[in-house]
Amino acid sequence: MKIRILGSCAGGGLPQWNCGCPNCVRARAGDEDLPTRTQPSIAVSADGTRWSILNAAPDIRHQLADFPGLHPRPGTRDLPLDTILLTSAELDHALGLLILREALCYRIVSTPWVRDTVLESNAAFRLLEPAWSVMPLDRPFPLDGDGRLEARLFPVPGKVPGWAREVAKPHPEMCAALRLTDTGSGARLVYAPGVKSLDDATWAEIQAARCAFVDGTFFTRDELLAHRPGAPDAIAMGHLPITGAEGSLERLASHTGRRFYIHMNNTNPVLDRSSPELDRVQRAGVEVAMDGLEFEL
Ligand code: MLT
Ligand code: MN
Ligand code: ZN
Repeated sequence: MKIRILGSCAGGGLPQWNCGCPNCVRARAGDEDLPTRTQPSIAVSADGTRWSILNAAPDIRHQLADFPGLHPRPGTRDLPLDTILLTSAELDHALGLLILREALCYRIVSTPWVRDTVLESNAAFRLLEPAWSVMPLDRPFPLDGDGRLEARLFPVPGKVPGWAREVAKPHPEMCAALRLTDTGSGARLVYAPGVKSLDDATWAEIQAARCAFVDGTFFTRDELLAHRPGAPDAIAMGHLPITGAEGSLERLASHTGRRFYIHMNNTNPVLDRSSPELDRVQRAGVEVAMDGLEFEL
């Protein structure tokens, strides 16, 4: 299985347009320790020829332009894209669909809750309805056209997206992670960019994977408070912090496979290549996802 990280930051990216936090200021100034980053998405492929994309970030236009593997074939309007899979209805995971609305040469897949919540309250998204199929949780289905990548959405602790709080109630299908298995090599990937807590089932999925992408939004539970008085804490926002009693790092340190944090908020100190926080994460054996990184599993 081949993997390309299209974008590694949370909603807003780095720098975020309205943010003057130290990370954003330095990234805007071109500081080499804080390379700019786009919003979260990865592309996966069984053979490096045809690709599928996990979540459609608002930056998808630039992410595709930067990735020759997903350029249209000369003389056509066809690109080797099989499926765009959504793990949730968060805007930083779904807005990119509107950028790709002109030609539905691919299939969109999500849980029924995600599709219905997005389509029922956002008329513009109904342009995408003909391409949008639904998959229940915990059922295997082929992600790619050749059926070499077996996908399975499983529920993780999460939240109703902020924009949908008035129109939808919490539901097990609202926040999923993906287990992806290469049926040829047996390699298994878990993609979990939004996780409120590491419950036993989620942890078991991560442990069974050769590679896992895990929610790395905040380094500490009260990270946002330092930048914005009165801001909610990480867990209230649906994101388990990296450190602290509820944190993910200690458990990920015991995992033997390749582990990445993804969906880092722009305030997260691990985005700074010279920070002791990044050093601590790396010494625990965990990587911080970076735009453009490609590898094979
Ligand atoms: C999140 O990850 O919590 C959301 O994407 C925040 C948002 O609504 O922008
Ligand atoms: Mn987000
Ligand atoms: Zn910032």
